Amino acid sequence: IDISKLRGLTGGLTTIDPGYKNTGSCVSEITFLNGEQGILRYRGYSIEDLAEKADFLEVAYLLIFGELPNKEQLDKFHSDIKKRSVVDEEVKKIVDAFPKSAHPMGVLSSLTSALTAFNPESVDINSEEEMYNAIVGILGKFPVLVAWAMRKKQGLPLDYGDNSLGYVENILKMMFKQPNEEYKLNPIVVDALDKLLILHADHEQNCSTSTVRIVGSSHAGLFASISAGISALWGPLHGGANQAVLEMLEAIKEDGGDTKKYMAKAKDKSDPFRLMGFGHRVYKNFDPRAKIIKVAADEVLDDLGVQDPILDIAKGLEKEALADDYFVKRKLYPNVDFYSGIIYRAMGIPTEMFTVMFALGRLPGWIAQWKEMRERKEPIGRPRQVYIGKNSRPFISVEKR
Ligand code: ACO
Repeated sequence: IDISKLRGLTGGLTTIDPGYKNTGSCVSEITFLNGEQGILRYRGYSIEDLAEKADFLEVAYLLIFGELPNKEQLDKFHSDIKKRSVVDEEVKKIVDAFPKSAHPMGVLSSLTSALTAFNPESVDINSEEEMYNAIVGILGKFPVLVAWAMRKKQGLPLDYGDNSLGYVENILKMMFKQPNEEYKLNPIVVDALDKLLILHADHEQNCSTSTVRIVGSSHAGLFASISAGISALWGPLHGGANQAVLEMLEAIKEDGGDTKKYMAKAKDKSDPFRLMGFGHRVYKNFDPRAKIIKVAADEVLDDLGVQDPILDIAKGLEKEALADDYFVKRKLYPNVDFYSGIIYRAMGIPTEMFTVMFALGRLPGWIAQWKEMRERKEPIGRPRQVYIGKNSRPFISVEKR
């Protein structure tokens, strides 16, 4: 491309970087990521430390407000979230209107958008207090929507939470409580979910987070921006990969468990098949989250006494890929989604809900990034293009075409 010609066409110099592989969209103080060395830190704290020592609500506070909360701050944060966790009864009618076959990600994104209509004060945010109320509002209501998206699929009544429980315990109860049965929390499941949510909580300027920032940059409200982020997350090249991984592992199992056949398919350039859960735009080394999840998957399945042949297929694929020239040369390692589905499955979460669980974990990151963007008074996101279409043409009426 002759750049000197483009200058005249665009009115300035435009850089082209499809997929923004080398373009930073903002400066940020939230998440540090070094893909070459496999390092991930939230606000300076290593993901390994946070996954082991913190709980999800503390991490949410850290991401959103920049510091780990003391006990008093954490209690107030949780209490404010609980106070705003009520979802308008009318929203249930929207849930009822969806067909049972609806994908829970479509339901979740629609319901999150609908919240804007029922909470108009969350749209026009001009003060710190309004911002705080919108933040605790979405943190309170989102788990209810997640649970309803799952219960709709299973034909279960749409219940509300139990505010005497912790944030993650409450989510599990809302999802799994059966009518006329007491729900007994399993500490292994609570810990595993807590860890998974922490590992997914932020990942700097990925596709869904960039979407939240760019939608929010027009000063659309927080809930609307997050609804757009959910849609971005849904795709199989992003968060939808966790569902795709499990479906792929199931297909391999059904097909006799021949992992080599699928490795060959993934390497065949005439076949669009990719090994789901492998590769990452930024990590050209082991995804540090995948390392933690792999160990957690072993522990959880062991603790719950679950024997899952799918885990063996996953381990087999990983071993083969790490020793295969194609994957080694392209630095394709297992990513966060490769093992998360196996844990979700062991917990009894349906496959179609996996990406919803990712959204639940990513919520604090989306909020933190949206807040940072608004506080830094970033300009509206508006990329340029290089036009390569037709030159100026005379209009021809329909009769003469
Ligand atoms: N299986 C087989 N080949 C692959 C895979 C894979 N999973 N991923 C990348 N490749 C190959 C590509 O064909 C390409 O080969 P080539 O250089 O011979 O043309 C090369 O590796 C580079 O791939 P790109 O698509 O250019 O890499 P990009 O950074 O754009 O994409 C992505 C990264 C989307 C994650 C990709 O690796 C992929 O599709 N993975 C599978 C889906 C997945 O697991 N997504 C989850 C990502 S993590 C997350 O969002 C939480």
